[in-house]
Amino acid sequence: MNLLVSAGPTREFLDPVRFLTNRSTGKMGYAVAEQAARRGHSVVLVSGPVSLPPPDGVRIRHVVSALDMLAALQDELAACDALVMTAAVADWRPAAAATSKLKKRAAGTAASDAAFQIAPDGQSATLQLIPNPDILATLRSSKGNRLFVGFAAETNDVLEEASGKLIRKGLDLIVANDVTRPGAGFGTDTNIVTFVEPGALPLPLPLLSKAEVADRIISWLESHLNPSGGNA
Ligand code: CTP
Repeated sequence: MNLLVSAGPTREFLDPVRFLTNRSTGKMGYAVAEQAARRGHSVVLVSGPVSLPPPDGVRIRHVVSALDMLAALQDELAACDALVMTAAVADWRPAAAATSKLKKRAAGTAASDAAFQIAPDGQSATLQLIPNPDILATLRSSKGNRLFVGFAAETNDVLEEASGKLIRKGLDLIVANDVTRPGAGFGTDTNIVTFVEPGALPLPLPLLSKAEVADRIISWLESHLNPSGGNA
């Protein structure tokens, strides 16, 4: 199988030194890439900024922003049989990034041109954000016979939220987890996930290492890939 995996957070810059991001460490996506390579699959990993070493036997592409990640995945999609999208993509980015460092007292400086605006009295500030593309939804038109797997890290109504994303994003499988449970979610080496697929009962898995969750995902992909091996 030719597998394409995304991992980690994205960074959305306000100015050359500041960005918006999230708590993703990339561990889940790196585990998927590593286990797939161990099992003999050919793997491309598109990674946001993380502090993990590249897994052995995996071709890695480093990206920063959601727009970079979309462009890299668009480049790589044609050659893959399956996409596993573990990345925690920022849904919003600053409407513009200032080219020089924003100053604390901004009147009359570059800040007045940027998405970040300080009130004249200096007692409040606003940051204007614009939406990033939904990467999975954007890639959907080029999906063909490829399998698309998404992740849903939720804090409430986990299965309902995950099922909604499964349908909205046209996925074959979504791996749902409740990030408020001990042993699940950001930065941990373990995860507690439920596999949700169209037309099937949700399959809850026990507490597993991220490597074991990765193995389950790869087994799922192996058993669901088009037996002819062809892509549309
Ligand atoms: N995702 C994506 N593009 C985005 C945001 C998310 O492709 N701009 C992908 C993630 O990689 C994940 C899935 O969509 O596989 C679900 O991500 P999540 O952040 O849970 O969902 P959102 O669509 O952002 O919805 P919400 O923030 O409302 O929960």
